This record gives sequence, C-alpha cells and structure tokens, in this order.
Amino acid sequence: MKALILSGGKGTRLRPLTHSGAKQLVPVANKPVLWYGIEEMVAAGITDIGIIINPETGAEVQAKTGDGGYFGAKITYILQHQPAGLAHAVQVARPFLADSPFVMYLGDNLIQLGDLNYFLQQFIQQQPEALILLRQVANPSAFGVARVDDTGQVFQLIEKPKIPPSNLALVGVYFFSHVIFDAIANIQPSARGELEITDAIQHLIDQQKQVLAYELQGWWLDTGKKDDLLEANRLILDTYLSTTIDGEIDTQSQIIGRVQIGARSKVTNCTIRGPVIIGSDCYLENCFIGPYSSIANHVTLIDSDLEHSMVLEGAKIARIHQRIIDSVIGQRAQLTLAPRRPKALRFLIGDDCQIELT
Ligand code: TTP
Repeated sequence: MKALILSGGKGTRLRPLTHSGAKQLVPVANKPVLWYGIEEMVAAGITDIGIIINPETGAEVQAKTGDGGYFGAKITYILQHQPAGLAHAVQVARPFLADSPFVMYLGDNLIQLGDLNYFLQQFIQQQPEALILLRQVANPSAFGVARVDDTGQVFQLIEKPKIPPSNLALVGVYFFSHVIFDAIANIQPSARGELEITDAIQHLIDQQKQVLAYELQGWWLDTGKKDDLLEANRLILDTYLSTTIDGEIDTQSQIIGRVQIGARSKVTNCTIRGPVIIGSDCYLENCFIGPYSSIANHVTLIDSDLEHSMVLEGAKIARIHQRIIDSVIGQRAQLTLAPRRPKALRFLIGDDCQIELT
C-alpha cells in the first residue's frame, strides 16, 4: 500500500498567504497542514509516500518536510508541472505508484486523526476498485456529491449539484486500485480544464467496477480558505493541546487553561487564556491572548489583545487598542499604532489582503 498526498495546486482561495508560500505549509496549531496528513498515513501503517509538488512551491515543501525520516516514512517528491486536476496528479504519479493500491489524500485537508486505519482495512478486505469517504455537509451544492445504494455501492457522483440528491459530500481521501489509471486515460478535461477525479470514479462506475463509500463520522476540514483554516486551528487546539511551558513567564502574568509556550519565548504582564499555542523565540508584553489562538515562532506582541486568531512566523503587532479576533496575520506582517501626527491610518498592503475596520 502506498500513499499519494497532493501538495501542488493553485491555492487561489487562500491568497495572499499563498502568494509567498504553499498553502499546505500554512501552520495549524503551529504545524504545517501537510504534516497532519503525513502523520495520519504513518499512523495507519503506510510509510511509502509520494507527495505531488508544483514548480512554484515544491522546493519549499521539500526543504521543510524532508525525506520522511522525521515521520518514520519514506517520501518521494513528484513534480506536476501544471495544476491540471486531481486525476492528472494521479497520472503524473504513475511511475511512483506502479501497480500498488494507494490512498490519495488532499494535502490541504484535515480529517480527524485515527480514522484512516478503519477505512484502509475495509479497502484491503473488500478489494473494490475504489473506496471513497463521504461526510454529511450543510451545503452539498458546494461539493462533489455521491448517490449510494443501501449496500454502500456508489452509483452516481455529481459535481456541485444545483439540487443535491443527498447531503453526502466527497471528502479529500480516496482509496484506489491500479484500475484507476485506465479510467483516467478515458476521461476528458472538464469545463474548468482539469482532469477531475470524480469523472474518473464515475467512469469506473459506468464500467460496472466496484466503488464503495463509507461515511466519515469525525471532522473533516478543507483548510484552503481563511475561515476553514481558523476552524481547523480551533479544533486541533481544542482536541490535542496539552500544557507545556518552556519559555519564561513573569509573576505578573496569568496563564489559564491549556497553554503551550516554546523555548526562549518571554511573556511579561500578559493574560493568556487557553487553549493557546505560542512558538519559540516570541516576545509578549502587556497582552491578552484569548482562546483558540496560535502564535508562531519569532512573533512580537506588545500592548495588544487577540483571540481566535493565528499569527504566523516573524509577525509583529504592537499597541493596537482594539481586540483582534478571527484573524490570520501573515509571516513578517507588521501591525502597529504609531504615536505620530497626523492621526491617520497608514498602510502598505499586499495583493489580495482583507482588512475590516470599524
Ligand atoms: P484544490 O484546493 O481543489 O485546488 P487548488 O489548490 O488549485 O485551490 P484553489 O481552489 O484555492 O485555487 O486542491 C486540493 C489539493 O490538491 C490541494 O492540496 C492542492 C492539490 N492539487 C494538486 O496537487 N494538483 C492539482 O492539479 C490540483 C488541482 C490540486
């Protein structure tokens, strides 16, 4: 059994963060999203992992993630020259996958850890040509939706249906036998110019091949958009964070609930109400850090209040006298109140940023 994790793509929905880096490396609770997927594979016993990368961010993904040794896996990087679709990525990975059955996992998705092994066992025992995971969603029109009979066989997949026949959306995890390559060879690019994996699976169904569906009960999140990213951050902190304090906290500071503070970080006269994770080499002075916040390494926060937010590496926030909520502050971004006249807002804002002032 092999794994193919997709870490290419365009990342348009997560701009501006994806102007300067891979969306799969954006940290959730201070760990790249992609790494959760790798760990999930290893936990299910799959250690031969191929990662699809693109020419723009591939080197960064590779440099950060390495050869897999850190995870107890062997990672092979596979370059997809263009983001020509999920089925195209599978085609490009054929030399790596050979005839092995494999699990395909979208590198910007998060599923509740520990669920994968059960579905893997079903796939191994029942030997269908494909096994897909479905999850009940509130807005099925935004997803690929499956129609399934009462034996769990999929008989139709519909991409973003106007009138959804069910509320079961396709989750970004798929198990395939090598027969998927024949299906991909028989499909054409869709209206958006991509080779769609849903078309390839539909082709399997049309050829009377067995395609099974299982419903995922745990959570599933696509971190490709800001609000989903914050929700993923909230869930991971809520579920997994435990208290570890390596940094230095003065006696004026109050730490409440589960809080992690990394090495060499200095906290002076702050209130931190967990769950909160703070990386290493940070400097915090006169701040309130509220629940569900992740502060990456080398961040400076002075006279500022924030909650339910993510501050990425090297950012600085100082003297903002309004509470910052539901925000993602990019790497090395600076948000400060300058005591200079005339009293005014001064910006240097990059492309595709979103700023809400009241
Ligand atoms: P998507 O999020 O569906 O596509 P995208 O990255 O192009 O995103 P956006 O809509 O924001 O522009 O892709 C799901 C995952 O699969 C993601 O991790 C990127 C990856 N991917 C590839 O590796 N190759 C591809 O050709 C495509 C389309 C996606």
